[in-house]
Amino acid sequence: MASILSGLVDLDRTARTRLTRRLYEQLRAAIIDGRLRPGHRLPSSRVFAGELAVSRNTVTAVIDQLAAEGYVDIGRGRRPTIAAGIVPALARGASRQTRAAGRAPLSAWGRRIDHAGWPFEGEGAARPFAPGVADGRAFPHELWGRLLRRAARRGRLPASATNSPALQDALARHLIDHRGVKTTPRQIIVTPSAQAAIELVCRLMLNAGDVAWLENPGYGGARVALDAVGARVIGVPIDRSGLVLGGRAPKPRLIFVTPSHQYPTGRLMSIDRRLDLLRSAASAGSVLIEDDYDSEFHYDGRPVASLQGLDEAECVFYVGTFSKVMLSDIRVGYVVVPEGLVRTFETAQRHAGQLVSATLQAALSEFIGDGPYAAHIRRMTRIYSARRDHLIRALDAASPGSFAIDSPAGGMQLLARLGQADDDLLLCSHLRTAGVTARPLSRHFVGRTTQRGLFMGFAAWNEEEIDAGARLIGDVMARYRRHRLPEAQSL
Ligand SMILES: Cc1ncc(COP(=O)(O)O)c(C=O)c1O
Repeated sequence: MASILSGLVDLDRTARTRLTRRLYEQLRAAIIDGRLRPGHRLPSSRVFAGELAVSRNTVTAVIDQLAAEGYVDIGRGRRPTIAAGIVPALARGASRQTRAAGRAPLSAWGRRIDHAGWPFEGEGAARPFAPGVADGRAFPHELWGRLLRRAARRGRLPASATNSPALQDALARHLIDHRGVKTTPRQIIVTPSAQAAIELVCRLMLNAGDVAWLENPGYGGARVALDAVGARVIGVPIDRSGLVLGGRAPKPRLIFVTPSHQYPTGRLMSIDRRLDLLRSAASAGSVLIEDDYDSEFHYDGRPVASLQGLDEAECVFYVGTFSKVMLSDIRVGYVVVPEGLVRTFETAQRHAGQLVSATLQAALSEFIGDGPYAAHIRRMTRIYSARRDHLIRALDAASPGSFAIDSPAGGMQLLARLGQADDDLLLCSHLRTAGVTARPLSRHFVGRTTQRGLFMGFAAWNEEEIDAGARLIGDVMARYRRHRLPEAQSL
């Protein structure tokens, strides 16, 4: 009898799950896959326990559990027997089904999402110089906590579980005053993130096969949302003034742009280019997504108002987020939609489950309406502007002559360009190992490119952290320049 059990059960005593659980799972698996067949008699609990060097209590508990689930028959004075009938009828079918579900073909959307390649794998927790991360340490947590508590205590269920009128009012006033957006409060659709807003616009406005233009280089999150709905994504080059329009065919159904701080180059789209873009979108019947993700932060000169504010044809969807201005984890974004599409967006938002907690919306409306929001933006603008300058100086000191950096006029990240012969994938892989995050410019392109660079965030780290990160970059660059870096791991 020593035979069958020792072949079936392997009780790895270093494993962290409980012994009873492991023994139960292994016996059940043996019954399900037919290694223990119906009618087979198991040894007595004493023999069983002796063979496996476990206690009789463990064996009894496992057999009782298997009996309760119908895998094993037990009776007074009889040895436990594998139940007749159950194996072929139920258990085998169930195991095949489970395996089949793991291999079930994904939908076209699922396959495209599965191959998205964005965000970059392996970046892990936010550390210098992850792009797009706000400094949570400088946030007025006490005040925010009070507002959240007050909103939670009031706890009234809103008339509509979608968009809070109080938040829509406060945000509309802010967007009109500070970003030159043309909107009524009800045109603001509140979503759990800017990404959710972008995704909603793509799903509502595009069919599979429709052409979409994306800045090249451009924002990977938008590319995934466009790809996922089956759009034909065309990367459109940018120059110093923004998207280069020049008689490009085929005409797009949707154009995605980041005119305030082009992602990832940080450039500002010129006023001429904005007007050209709106004209050609209107004449081609295209819609535009204006992603204004971090444009509250302006360091040099006056902020440029939104593209949406110039739009006469109601073809611009203006997207924003609080994850840059306030906290990365706040999970509130929004999209300002044309008046005629409000109902459609509200319905889609509900059915796609893209709703934000009413408590969070209530707290946010007070944070904006009572003034702390604007004060926080003013304070962070001073801090981030100094950090931008500090990172540029620190990179130059740590690795003189390695990078060409156009100081961005605003935002939370910068692009340090490398030479065409440099390998930004290799460098980012080694920086990751050294403890620094940077994203390779070449991975922000649709198609091939000769442009190389490191895309880095500077907002969330103080001067000492920036210095320490820049020194690590300097070390990696020095080894790289001496050709002492081994092959890259995949990014
Ligand atoms: C250009 C751009 N748009 C949108 C987003 C998404 O913002 P959210 O965190 O609200 O989804 C990001 C995030 O990094 C971004 O960089």
